[in-house]
Amino acid sequence: MPEVDKAGERYAADQPQETPGFFLKGSHQLDWGIKNRLARVFSPSTGRTVMLAVDHGYFQGPTTGLERIDLSIVPLLPSCDALFCTRGILRSVIPAETTKPMVLRASGGPSILREELSDEEIAMDIDDAVRLNAAGIGIQVFIGGEFETRSVQNMTRLVDAGLRTGIPVMGITAVGKTMVRDAKYFRLACRIIAELGAQYVKTYYVDDGFETVAASCPVPIVMAGGKKLTELDALTMAYNAVQQGAAGVDMGRNIFQSEAPKAMIAAINAVVHKNARPKEAYELFSSLKAKG
Ligand code: 5RP
Repeated sequence: MPEVDKAGERYAADQPQETPGFFLKGSHQLDWGIKNRLARVFSPSTGRTVMLAVDHGYFQGPTTGLERIDLSIVPLLPSCDALFCTRGILRSVIPAETTKPMVLRASGGPSILREELSDEEIAMDIDDAVRLNAAGIGIQVFIGGEFETRSVQNMTRLVDAGLRTGIPVMGITAVGKTMVRDAKYFRLACRIIAELGAQYVKTYYVDDGFETVAASCPVPIVMAGGKKLTELDALTMAYNAVQQGAAGVDMGRNIFQSEAPKAMIAAINAVVHKNARPKEAYELFSSLKAKG
């Protein structure tokens, strides 16, 4: 790693980066259109977002919980701040009457059947994102992966297209099978993604040092959910992430694979927007689940 491996006071995690004139970290010098789209995804009153990630089918097909997005996800739309989905699902399933902001998956290529997942290409023209009134686009970036340079270049091409059209780009730290998930890796990956122009970064939570990942990334971080955990563990992880500097979550399986997805997304909302503690949020989840 190119940095001195001494996390600590140099990250000044308790001293927020200044954002004069706009509520979102690192976004105050962007153009009106990008700011407006960001303000649709991130709540201007809390500075945070609950994005619901349902794009898994782009390489996994009908993932558990997403077999029928019309039945499992459309009813959750009122409970999220934004949906992260593919343009195929958007056009075929998501009602155009919705006013929820849509962030579109813009990369693809290898399926789950392949060993090497970093072999991705840009999978959507920016003109289509404009046509679909996207509030943002998201792309996987494989730092340390076999096709690292290409995936970085895919992202920078999308950032250029996004800046031309006013559409913010969410860079996603993709973790291959052999990569270590620790703060040192995520500091590196998130910072590279931000330095190369993404307007926000989606990354995983780590127990040790997440605040240094958030502090050293000059743009907002949203936490990815990852594999299904117990509801209490998932709420605890989301709580820790936002308390340690994340500007919200972009969670999938821990919401739509929950026994009670509607109750779970309500509990996540309480954690993200109201700073509810994990136990309190879990009680909310349990009472909403009991009410059916
Ligand atoms: C994969 C993605 C997915 O959208 C997302 O991370 C999946 O959500 P979850 O892990 O919470 O099920 O970007 O990198």
